[in-house]
Amino acid sequence: MMQLSADLLITGAAQLLTFSGLDGPRTGSEMSNLSLVEDGALAARDGKIVAVGKTSEVVKNVALLPGAQVVSAHGKVVMPCFVDPHTHLVCGGSREGEFLLRLDGAEYLDILAAGGGILSTVKATRQASEAELLQKGLKLLDHFLCAGVGTVEAKSGYGLDMETELKQLRVAHSLDNTHPVDVVHTFLGAHAFPPEFAGRREEYVDLIVGELIPKVAAEGLAEFCDVFCENTVFTIEQSRKILEAGKQHGLKPKIHADEIVSCGGAELAAEVGAVSADHLLQISNQGIKKMAEAKIVAVLLPGTAFFLMKDKFAPARRLIEAGVPVALSTDSNPGSSPTQAMALILSLACLGMKMKPAEALTAATINAAYAIDRGHLVGSLEVGKKADILIMDAPNYNYIPYHYGINLVETVFKNGKKVVG
Ligand code: NIG
Ligand code: FE
Repeated sequence: MMQLSADLLITGAAQLLTFSGLDGPRTGSEMSNLSLVEDGALAARDGKIVAVGKTSEVVKNVALLPGAQVVSAHGKVVMPCFVDPHTHLVCGGSREGEFLLRLDGAEYLDILAAGGGILSTVKATRQASEAELLQKGLKLLDHFLCAGVGTVEAKSGYGLDMETELKQLRVAHSLDNTHPVDVVHTFLGAHAFPPEFAGRREEYVDLIVGELIPKVAAEGLAEFCDVFCENTVFTIEQSRKILEAGKQHGLKPKIHADEIVSCGGAELAAEVGAVSADHLLQISNQGIKKMAEAKIVAVLLPGTAFFLMKDKFAPARRLIEAGVPVALSTDSNPGSSPTQAMALILSLACLGMKMKPAEALTAATINAAYAIDRGHLVGSLEVGKKADILIMDAPNYNYIPYHYGINLVETVFKNGKKVVG
C-alpha cells in the first residue's frame, strides 16, 4: 500500500473511539456502537485525518513528515473533540443574584415575567461594548476548549433589538475568527419579548419576521434560526411564523421545545423540518413519534434541569427507544446553565436520564455534530474529517462519566495542532 504522509501521529490508545461507519445521526442501538479500536492509532496531515486503525497498521502505512508530532496515548482513551450544539455564548453580565433567589424558591419563568432572568442579561448585553463581549466570549471559549469542546453553536437572543442582535452575532463571528474553537451561528431574536414591546407582542413577532430575519440573513450572520417556544413566551403559532420566515431567508430551523410545559413544540419541529428540537422535558408521545419519523435530533440539556432544580429530566430512554437521535449539550448561558463542563453533562445524562456512557459519548460527539449540520466535518474520527482530537486520562470510556466533575481532558488537538496539554 502507498504510504501516507502525516504531520501528527497518535499511537497506542487503549481505546480509540472512532464513531465511524455510518452516515447520519445515530439512533437506537447504533448509539451504543462506538466503533472502538483497541491499541488504536490515528494520523493526520494539514489538519485532516488521513489514517485511523490499529497502531500496527497505521504506523506501517504512514510516513512522517519532518517535524511531525508523535504522541503516545498508551493506557488512555482517544476520541473526537466534543461538539456543543446549544449555547448562549455571547452575553453581558452574570446572574448569581438570581441563583440566590431561586435557592429561596423563586421560579425561573416568574423571574423572567418580573423583568429579570433573560431580560437582565438583555440589559447587560445591550450596555456592553463589542470589545467587552468579545473578551467575555474568549474566556468562555477557553473553558470550552479545556473541557474538550472543539465546536460550539452560539445563539443571539440577548439583544431583542436590531442593533444588539447584530452586535451579538458579529461578536460570535469574531470569536470564531480569533479562537481555536469553531463557532456556529444561530439567530434567536425570539428568545423573550423585549420590555419596550410590553403589551404589543405581535408587533415584536412582526419585527423579527419583517426586519431582523431579513437583515441577519442578508449580512450572512447566521446559519440557523431558533425560537424559545413556550406557552408564556413564543406560542406555537408565533414560533411557526418565525421559523417559516427564517426558512424563506435560508436559515435552518431549530427550536427550544416543550421545556416547561408540553405545548406541541416537538410536533412543530417535525412540521417545519427542524435540524434539532432542544430541551424536551415535557415532550408528548406524539411529539416523540413525529421526531423519530422525521429523524430530528433531540438536543437534551440535563445541566439545565439540574441547575433549575427540576424534579424531572428529558425522557432520554423513551426517545432512544423510539428511534429519535439524541444529542447532549451544556446549554451554556448565564441563567439556567452557567457551565462549559461537557463531561459533567455526560455524567448528568447517565445519572439523571439513565443514558449509558456509550450513548452519552455518541450524543456529545457525532449526534451533536448532526444537531448543527456539521456531521460531515466533525464528531467522529474518520479519514477526511477535521483532526479535532482528545486524549482523555481515562483507561476506558465508561470511566469518563464515572469520574464525575473532574476534567479528564489531557490533550486537545484542534485542526491537528496541540492547543491544550
Ligand atoms: O436554553 N430557555 C431559554 N433560553 C435559555 C436560558 C437563557 C437564560 O436564562 O439566559 C435556555 O435554557
Ligand atoms: Fe437555550
